[in-house]
Amino acid sequence: MKRVAVFPGTFDPVTLGHLDVLERAVRLFDRVVVGVAAGHHKSTLFSLDERIEMFRENLSEVSAPRVRFVAFDGLLVDFAKETGAIAVVRGIRTVRDYEYELQMAQLNRTMSPELETVFLVPAEKYASVQSSRVREIARYGGKVRAFVPRTVERRLRKAMRTKKGVSAGEGKKA
Ligand code: PNS
Repeated sequence: MKRVAVFPGTFDPVTLGHLDVLERAVRLFDRVVVGVAAGHHKSTLFSLDERIEMFRENLSEVSAPRVRFVAFDGLLVDFAKETGAIAVVRGIRTVRDYEYELQMAQLNRTMSPELETVFLVPAEKYASVQSSRVREIARYGGKVRAFVPRTVERRLRKAMRTKKGVSAGEGKKA
């Protein structure tokens, strides 16, 4: 039986840190379903389709055939069940992330005891990379090349010219 994991997030936009975690997840599981949160819990700079497209176009050749993208807007545990996943993969950069993620993992376990949460640590160079900061840097004209793929950098520049700019989120800044 194929071992499936879900990798959920808002991905607004996907960063090199997210891509790093995904590549690691693909090494551990047969299939990874990237669950892209529809965004009802926070306003996003990029539409759902844009967020999926930016992620999809930056997969490695190894990952691409084993990864699929699915939008979700309900509970993560329900989404995981629908996809047949045995685990939820989340990236952890800092102790602050850990506290937030631990709470989420414990709540999810109470709701769905058979679903495991697997924390993966991205490469050290991405330890400070988070989508909200990337949006902020781009908003004020800073260079984001070290944090996001080139296609995302281009779209951020365009978004900042045409959209309102930084959107607000709550809790852990993704
Ligand atoms: O990229 P993010 O914003 O850190 O992702 C957070 C996300 C989407 C994974 C989280 O908010 C989530 O799981 N939302 C689905 C709703 C849910 O299940 N909430 C209860 C979690 S304990």
